[in-house]
Amino acid sequence: QDIFTYDPGFTSTGSCKSAITYIDGDEGVLLHRGYAIADLAENCEFLEVAYLILKGELPNPEQKAKFEKDIIRHSMLNEQINFFYRGFRRDAHPMAVMCGVVGAMAAFYHDSTDINDPHQRMIASYRLIAKMPTVTGWAYKYMQGQPFMYPQNGLSYAENFLHLMFATPCEQYKVSPVLAKAMDRILILHADHEQNASTSTVRLAGSSGANPFACIAAGIASLWGPAHGGANEAVLNMLGEIGSVERIPEFIKKAKDKDDPFRLMGFGHRVYKNYDPRAKIMQKTCHEVLDELGVQDEPLLKLAMELERIALEDDYFVSRKLFPNVDFYSGIIFRAMGIPTQMFTSLFALARTVGWIAQWNEMLTDPDQKIGRPRQLYVGEPQRAFIPLDKRA
Ligand code: CMC
Repeated sequence: QDIFTYDPGFTSTGSCKSAITYIDGDEGVLLHRGYAIADLAENCEFLEVAYLILKGELPNPEQKAKFEKDIIRHSMLNEQINFFYRGFRRDAHPMAVMCGVVGAMAAFYHDSTDINDPHQRMIASYRLIAKMPTVTGWAYKYMQGQPFMYPQNGLSYAENFLHLMFATPCEQYKVSPVLAKAMDRILILHADHEQNASTSTVRLAGSSGANPFACIAAGIASLWGPAHGGANEAVLNMLGEIGSVERIPEFIKKAKDKDDPFRLMGFGHRVYKNYDPRAKIMQKTCHEVLDELGVQDEPLLKLAMELERIALEDDYFVSRKLFPNVDFYSGIIFRAMGIPTQMFTSLFALARTVGWIAQWNEMLTDPDQKIGRPRQLYVGEPQRAFIPLDKRA
């Protein structure tokens, strides 16, 4: 019998070396390529952060302009993909649609499935970053029964995404700079988060030599779960279920009850045992967006803030170091922007594509890279004598 470590959930297994993202969960620190998330969220545009994550350095003005141009030229989807959407039911969850569409992209962009060619790997990365706003916007349009909009290459990445979501052929859509800035910041805050479940899934899928579109589709599938990216949708559903400030203690009690599967969604994190630095920025952005939209009295925000206050004074949450995570406030912002709850996790997938594809590239250029192949602790029957069919009880 080989000796190996039994580590369910990989809580203490380092699966790779990475130079992309650093997290100090006890101190609440998150760095991308050495830069603090707060500095990036405050001072950069999403594509600058995408460049940093993908290539290792912040771009200078020429590099930034060239990168934007390189990305923009890939923003359209092959027109045939239009018909692929139409095969889904209108009430399909957008994450189901996105898994399908992104996986299917391998059938359209054959040239960038050659993973041994660094140039093709970069083109695949550009294609994925460029096309994800279109993929996501079309998933929304399809759900709404509205015509698909085409990307507008004169707009910034975040503006273009809002255009793809909210413009219609019959009216001009004026993108609010405050909302575009908020969307841009949300994309930055979700861009990468080292070896979480979906990123590890992308790496594991990619370790067999699978094509990049299939790997990102695998990441989307993993992100969908409520313990991961699906938490932003679950937070809004939970706040809706709580309904009023008076009912918060009842739900706190449920969350603490070990016989009740209910958990406070948007609370807790495998790595952060301190306030999630992204949640702090998200909370600030949430106030800015609600001010811009003139809805400072949004009852859900009040409910969320009161829930946070009560939980953070409760011994159960304090002793287990359960703080609000990135998903706690993002849903309130999305809702204020008019984005339906079902779309929340798709926005997370759009932003995380940068991290996924950067981690995929890093893995493929790592000389230590091997196919991912965890071991198991076998707890089944020992070898036994075969019983013919007519002798089985
Ligand atoms: N509500 C109530 N109790 C909780 C919660 C919660 N949200 N999270 C953890 N606990 C308790 C858990 O019951 C356990 O208690 P005990 O030690 O008495 O058995 C203890 O805290 C440790 O929990 P765990 O499940 O061992 O921790 P984990 O690292 O495996 O799970 C988590 C991390 C994020 C899956 C979990 O905290 C959770 O389910 N949170 C709610 C879902 C959520 O918000 N997910 C988004 C995560 S951040 C964004 C992302 O990754 O996409």
